[in-house]
Amino acid sequence: MLAQKRTGTGFRPGTKSSRIPTLLRYHIEKGACLQMCKTMIVVSVALALILSSFSTVFAQEGEKVRTPSLYKRLGGKKAITAVVNEFISVVVADTRINKFFADTAKDPKRVEKLRKNLVDQICAAGGGPCKYKGKDMKTAHMGMGITEADFNALVEDLVKALDKFNVGETEKNELLGALGAMKGDIVEK
Ligand code: HEM
Repeated sequence: MLAQKRTGTGFRPGTKSSRIPTLLRYHIEKGACLQMCKTMIVVSVALALILSSFSTVFAQEGEKVRTPSLYKRLGGKKAITAVVNEFISVVVADTRINKFFADTAKDPKRVEKLRKNLVDQICAAGGGPCKYKGKDMKTAHMGMGITEADFNALVEDLVKALDKFNVGETEKNELLGALGAMKGDIVEK
């Protein structure tokens, strides 16, 4: 009867804390839990803040390191088209090499096709969204008998066009580097 009464009033016989009434222990445990929960929330928020500040630092670092594509640095398709237009005018006026383009110059459709191919080629080489659909360089120049001097003259004309639009040295060298790699497929003599 006494044992029953004790249990009923909140004692748990046989346990270490059996002297603490259940209600009181509930409050102590609840209090401890609340305290622990509070601590955990504070720690979590602090961790989240630290991590987010780290990721911001890394994102900023990443952005600093990541250089935009050559296509973007050249100014996109509009700027590339302007350079190619100028380039074609310079080439057509260049007596060192304009004989190669005599037939092309007579046919506006052919000039248009060459213009589009050159724009797409530079755009794609610079990491832009264009797709070059023309012939590969070996096939396109096969049998033309292009010499190294012809090739260098054409590169000079391209530099003139790039300089007219104040293209930076870095971008100019990157583009010339990409085109220079095609030399072996274009020069025959
Ligand atoms: C890196 C240098 C060069 C590049 C990137 C280049 C690029 C091109 C491209 C994209 C085409 C059009 C291909 C097609 O129709 O599918 C083409 C055609 C042609 N290229 Fe070049 N070329 C280069 C050097 C030269 C040189 C040095 C010459 C002569 C001096 C030359 C003369 C021609 C001619 C005559 C055509 C045919 C144009 C036509 O279809 O009417 N190219 N080239």
